[in-house]
Amino acid sequence: MKYSYISHLYCPKCEAVYDTKQQHQLCTCGSPLLVDYHWDELKADLKRDEVEKRQPTLWRYHEMLPVEDEANVVSQGEGMTPLIAMPALGKDMDVENLYMKDEGLVPTGTFKARGAAVGVSKAKEVGVKEFAMPTNGNAGAAWALYGAKAGIQSTIVMPQDAPKITRNEVALSGANLYLVNGLISDAGKIVGQAVKDFGLYDVSTLKEPYRIEGKKTMGLEIAEQMGWEMPDVILYPTGGGVGLIGIYKALNELKKLGWIEGNLPRLVAVQATGCAPIVKAWEEGKHESEFWANSSTQAFGINVPKALGDFLVLDAIYKTKGCAIAVDDQEMLAEQGKIARLEGSFICPEGAAVFVAIRELRKQDWIKEGETVVALNTGAGIKYPDTVNIDVPILEIGDSITVNS
Ligand SMILES: Cc1ncc(COP(=O)(O)O)c(C=O)c1O
Ligand SMILES: [Zn+2]
Repeated sequence: MKYSYISHLYCPKCEAVYDTKQQHQLCTCGSPLLVDYHWDELKADLKRDEVEKRQPTLWRYHEMLPVEDEANVVSQGEGMTPLIAMPALGKDMDVENLYMKDEGLVPTGTFKARGAAVGVSKAKEVGVKEFAMPTNGNAGAAWALYGAKAGIQSTIVMPQDAPKITRNEVALSGANLYLVNGLISDAGKIVGQAVKDFGLYDVSTLKEPYRIEGKKTMGLEIAEQMGWEMPDVILYPTGGGVGLIGIYKALNELKKLGWIEGNLPRLVAVQATGCAPIVKAWEEGKHESEFWANSSTQAFGINVPKALGDFLVLDAIYKTKGCAIAVDDQEMLAEQGKIARLEGSFICPEGAAVFVAIRELRKQDWIKEGETVVALNTGAGIKYPDTVNIDVPILEIGDSITVNS
């Protein structure tokens, strides 16, 4: 059996086809490229119970991933994160069957390591020596560290306001790090010029085809962990939207294999009220978003004013009868505390945004009583120490305390 059943790259806009042996970026028409596989062959060769016996990393799905030679795999054990029942929080918001896919447990502390593991491995396979990317922090940290493991030099540009820990991760990996006094879109322009000037491989969101393949493994894992029965709703904190596009791609691929059946879950893109271009487009019934001026939110990973793959995110929402919803920063931070108190999980603000959305959608009865709901927590709360401000008493030696029980 082959390690990967990859067949070709294709353009979802103009249907052009590309091979997988060369380095590719966008289609000549400007659209991101997607990966396709030999599904009939794979369906005959691989059964889902075979996969269930494998090591608990995302590479258990290697036939559906793009790396052709196992020797090129760059791994730090990413994937197979727990799908955790949240009964206390669920009770609090009247969603009886509430689950959290906890991506805080991936190396580097966010789901970004999935895209980096697969993207860097494939970059190594096609001979990339040096890549560059703009980032809101977490993706840059993951790509710089996985790049270091692969022996690939990276150049990373991130907003000055991005979480400080991600800056340290990038710097420590030996990458070329630059901070920009602006947004990820401003970092993107700088990277675009450097790519032209120095012939670097551009690994900006969706400008290379393989990051999404790593992220789609979240969808594969949810299906496997739910016993190949689909939940009713999956919600995802959406910036560039790669995770949502990836989950949608994964579920469609599992249908092609006959591993899941029936309707796909309704996919929900969650954004912040300070940066909600996908929500606005969805509310207006559009298929592309407009640039969101002066965007701002504490959920830094979803501060993306215009996503290259917006049309793919919107397509996934429309096709699954999902929706898009924006939540307020204050509510997000309050929810973060509630989740820590009720479930003992310290999750990132982007993840907390998803739970605010669930609360709201249940109130609107968009989520119906008894439905099974899966929330993606995309990262660990400990990556954002500054979003929590507490006031604690400082004792002098020998002071005594009063404990409320
Ligand atoms: C913690 C976190 N959640 C969500 C996102 C948004 O990811 P995507 O680009 O897949 O929409 C990011 C992106 O930086 C992130 O860091
Ligand atoms: Zn095209």
